[in-house]
Amino acid sequence: MNSSQWYKDKVFYQIWPRSFKDGNGDGMGDLLGVYEKLDYIKSLGCDGIWFSPLYPSPGVDCGYDISDYFDIADEFGGMEAFKRVLDGAHERGMKVIMDLVVNHTSDQHEWFQKSRQRIEPYTDYYIWRPAKADGKLPNNWDSLFEGKAWAWDEVRQEYYLHLFAVQQADLNMDNPLVREEVKKVLRFWLDMGVDGFREDVITFISKKEGLPDDYIMPAAKGFGYFNHGPHLHEYLKEFKDDVFSHYDCMTLAEAPMISPKKALKYIDETADPVLDMMIQFSTQEADCLFTDFVHTPFSLRKLKRAFSSWQKGLEGKGWNMLYMENHDHPRIVSRYGSEKFHSESAKMLAASYLFLKGTPFIYQGQEIGMSNWYPKDPSMYEDVQTRWQYENVGVKKSPEKRLQRLWHGSRDSARTPVQWDGSENAGFTTGTPWFYVNENYKEINVASQEKDESSVLNFYRKAIGLRKELSCVRYGNYEEYGKNSSKLYIYSREDEKQKILVICSFSDKNERLKVPKAFDLEKAELILCNYDSADSPDLRPYEARVYLWGKQAKI
Ligand code: NOJ
Repeated sequence: MNSSQWYKDKVFYQIWPRSFKDGNGDGMGDLLGVYEKLDYIKSLGCDGIWFSPLYPSPGVDCGYDISDYFDIADEFGGMEAFKRVLDGAHERGMKVIMDLVVNHTSDQHEWFQKSRQRIEPYTDYYIWRPAKADGKLPNNWDSLFEGKAWAWDEVRQEYYLHLFAVQQADLNMDNPLVREEVKKVLRFWLDMGVDGFREDVITFISKKEGLPDDYIMPAAKGFGYFNHGPHLHEYLKEFKDDVFSHYDCMTLAEAPMISPKKALKYIDETADPVLDMMIQFSTQEADCLFTDFVHTPFSLRKLKRAFSSWQKGLEGKGWNMLYMENHDHPRIVSRYGSEKFHSESAKMLAASYLFLKGTPFIYQGQEIGMSNWYPKDPSMYEDVQTRWQYENVGVKKSPEKRLQRLWHGSRDSARTPVQWDGSENAGFTTGTPWFYVNENYKEINVASQEKDESSVLNFYRKAIGLRKELSCVRYGNYEEYGKNSSKLYIYSREDEKQKILVICSFSDKNERLKVPKAFDLEKAELILCNYDSADSPDLRPYEARVYLWGKQAKI
């Protein structure tokens, strides 16, 4: 949180460390691998990295169950390897942000181990409750990963709250000592030179007093009582005042179920923001109902509404975080694009969001159009949430339907190793990969796309390059055209020097292009297109075009 707001000019690359690149041949992605690829990340035009958790962890939720906040896991190369990567990134002008996971810790964390034995001062570090008189759970809340949100602890003879996996115990943020611990964590990494944090489900840290039963929600019971709880703003302000405001850093908060209006409560720059940006989920919900496991046909109108409501809703007040993929959702080309028109649709999807106002994030492999993984057997899934879903939801459906549900819904679809080349294991490791490599790695990989001027990879480079050259992309107004179209997404960005029109077809057929009246294409320069030329009057399947009026004024 600082006045320079450097994050507004950055393009971030998200690394999910286990599957990025293995540098030591043990089959697990690591920081040696990241170090090798820093120049590659930079070559994309990315100048920021978000690391999903690198800390020591039993790995129940692939690192989101932290057992030590002050170290880097040995499997990733330890602290020395991290410092090398941090310095390497900084030398290249890249910022580095860490994942801050403080809604919960691993049950193996020392705090939890002491808390369950009631060793002071840790006794109230977590949310403990006795069983009700009738032996029932303390309340009816659901965990978002597996069953009810309470687990019985034999040692303490009480229940503890876990909004995610059983081994992810929720911290009691109402305890001032816990907040002091969080601040120590923040200072530790910021003092080391880290540039900020992506804050994991931070909107869950304050639970409603009394932890009441939820009689409103039919599923995900409790959600309304732990998301945006009563002290959330107060705790975030405390972290800002006591820590963030003393550093030149940025904060990005994961915020399920948030509207632009609500987001402004936290990120309004014209007031006293307690965060810099928020990760909204609405752009992830164009083919599902709240969760990827409840799949619905893709609706471009839904996606456009999401984009536009955030562009308009934050205008002049808050800053958007822009993304299409991360480690929690299946691959975008398989969802909103087309595997048949792989290259065209992967590029079009890039154009659809890289010219919006905000700070874009690109998830590892997205830049080559990595697609979903379709395992034949449900036992091949690794993810804790996926496994629970498979065993407990829709169990009466046919085996084919149950497996398809995972294909569309599982986070593992986006967690297969990055496909670096066409050699064994996609060049990810010289050892045995910790997870399955997508079978299509011979067709879709970085090495082959490096050689191809018209590849998805090089399209990302061009689009990011343009983004950085065009002042209207950073500062300009946003307008959407043809809102009712279920096939085309058309928007403009305009400042006093220039304007661009971005035209994206989400159709697998030719579509008639109706250019909005205010735009005379004769006077424009075509600066980006995912086909060789744009002289066709109609748009071809998944065609994307970007036109420019005015000078390519640099920022
Ligand atoms: C959100 C993270 O992105 C996800 O991967 C994780 O499983 C949950 N929070 C719990 O930490």
